[in-house]
Amino acid sequence: MVPKLPPSALDLEAVAKKAIEDMPPATRFGPEDAAVIAEHREVLAGLKEAFVRGFYDTLFAHPPTAAVFKEGERPVREGTLAFFYDRVLEGPHDQAFLTWLAYVGPVHVVRGVSNPMMLAMVGYLVNFVAEHAHDLPQGPRLTAAFVRLGATLGAIISYGYEAAWRKALENVVGIPEALAQRAALEEAQRLFPLRGQA
Ligand code: HEM
Repeated sequence: MVPKLPPSALDLEAVAKKAIEDMPPATRFGPEDAAVIAEHREVLAGLKEAFVRGFYDTLFAHPPTAAVFKEGERPVREGTLAFFYDRVLEGPHDQAFLTWLAYVGPVHVVRGVSNPMMLAMVGYLVNFVAEHAHDLPQGPRLTAAFVRLGATLGAIISYGYEAAWRKALENVVGIPEALAQRAALEEAQRLFPLRGQA
């Protein structure tokens, strides 16, 4: 089960689907990866506490990421991250799971967490597993599964983040999203011309 999502200004299912569609299939998290995680569920479950502690030690040791948190918030955040970790281990990695990940993006936008902060911690997740998988017989398969999980997570979260910004901007400026996107692309091409076309 994933938490029941509150009503959203975004079609989160569409956000998750679009992010995955943009990924070349070989780079996406798939059923084989889910099977490898299931095979290692017990060993990974034993690492949960270290994963969560290391995650927040890393964020609290760096002033820009530490500044995101309110006084006394760490225990609650550790709880939500532990829930996320359990959910990754237990599956199912179905549409509801992917749609929940799309919701996790905007949740962070609202708290001023940047995409670099998010993607850095996706790196922490993948690296954490890679380090612990080192001595396991199926270590390389497990690491590969988490590389694809990290890529999929990063794609959905960052696309959810981008979609939330676009929606917010659309409301503030009052321009329909498709028009704003076309205008932004044209302006980006003007600001950052390709070499040889300046
Ligand atoms: C791999 C990267 C990350 C994952 C998977 C993750 C996961 C989550 C999840 C599952 C939630 C709860 C969402 C819900 O309400 O259902 C959450 C909330 C939160 N996360 Fe993260 N997180 C990540 C990175 C970060 C980073 C880098 C920061 C800060 C620098 C951060 C700060 C927060 C905060 C402040 C909340 C609470 C949002 C609220 O006010 O409800 N997270 N995160």
